[in-house]
Amino acid sequence: MKHFTVTFRPQGRRISIHAGATILEAAGQAGIILNTVCGGVGTCGKCQVILQPGDRKVLACRRRIEENLTVEVPSESQFFEQQILHHGVDRQIEVAPSIHDQYPDLKAAEHLFGVAVDIGTTTVVAMLIDLADGSCRATAAVENPQIRCGDDVVSRIAYASGAGGLDELHEAIISCVNDLIEQLCRRTAVAASHIYEVTVAGNTTMNHIFLKFPVEQLGQAPYKAWSTKAQDRNAGVMQIAINPRGNVHVIESIAGFVGSDITAVAVAVGMDKAEGMTLVVDIGTNGEIILGTKDRMYAASCAAGPALEGARISQGGRAVEGAIEAVFVS
Ligand code: FES
Repeated sequence: MKHFTVTFRPQGRRISIHAGATILEAAGQAGIILNTVCGGVGTCGKCQVILQPGDRKVLACRRRIEENLTVEVPSESQFFEQQILHHGVDRQIEVAPSIHDQYPDLKAAEHLFGVAVDIGTTTVVAMLIDLADGSCRATAAVENPQIRCGDDVVSRIAYASGAGGLDELHEAIISCVNDLIEQLCRRTAVAASHIYEVTVAGNTTMNHIFLKFPVEQLGQAPYKAWSTKAQDRNAGVMQIAINPRGNVHVIESIAGFVGSDITAVAVAVGMDKAEGMTLVVDIGTNGEIILGTKDRMYAASCAAGPALEGARISQGGRAVEGAIEAVFVS
C-alpha cells in the first residue's frame, strides 16, 4: 500500500502513514493527541488543523491522506494534560476485606493491600489502601486514555458501538488501571502480588466498558443499563495486574446514567444511615445527584461536561495550562 509523509508543526514530528488514513490517526501515530469531543464523527469542529502551504483549514478526523502533508496544529485543537484532583477528606472506616473470607490463610498475612479506582470519563484516579487499617499509602491519577475516542459518554458509546470499538476502549481502560497500579507499587515499594482487592467505581458507561458489557442501549431511549448489579470478578481473568487470586469488585450502579461513582459517594458520606435530608452531588463529565434520607432517596443526572469540561463550548476550557485555577484577593 502507498505511504505518505505527514509533518506536524510546531511539534516538528514526521511520520509515514498509509494512504487513506485520517490526519487524526496520523497525529495519534506521531504522539499528538487532538481534541475529539464528538469522537471523530465530524460534528464538533474541535480537531481543526491547518494544511500548509495555503492555510487550508480541515477537520483532522475527516481529512484523508492522499499526498505528503505539512499540518499545523493550533494549540486550541491539541489536548493538553489537565490538573487532576486526587485527594480529599478521609473518614475513619472499619476495614473488613472480603478476601479474608475467601482465603482464610490470608488473615495472618502481614502485607495485604487493595486499590480503589475511580474511572471518570475524563480522568482515572487510583488509591493504594493498606487493608490492615484502611490508610491510603499513595494516590495516582491519569487522563482516561479513551479520550482519544471521544470526550463525553455519548461519544464513547457511539465509538464503542462501532466495529471493534468496545474491545479497543476496554483494552485501553484495563491497561490504564494496570499502569496506575504499577505507579502505586513503584512509589511505595509494595509488590503487586500483595494486592488482593481492586474496587472500581465509575459512571454506568465507564463500568460497562470496563466489564465489556454492550453499551449501544445506553445511547438510545430509554437508556437502559445492561446491568446495574455489583460485579465480582477474578483479577487474573480480568487481566488486572495484582495477585491473580485477587478480586475485582465493581460497585452497583443505579441506572443508565446514574452510576456506581455516586453510589460510592453516598456510602462514603454515610447516606445509608442519614436521618436528616442529605444532598450528594458528584459533578463530573456526567453530573449526578442523590437527595434523601436513609429511608428514601431520589437520584438524577445530567451532562455537566459542557459547563465544566469544555465540550461543545466556544469559550472556556478544561483545567489545562492557561485556565484560571485559583484567584487570591489581597
Ligand atoms: S469534528 Fe473532528 S473530532 Fe469532532
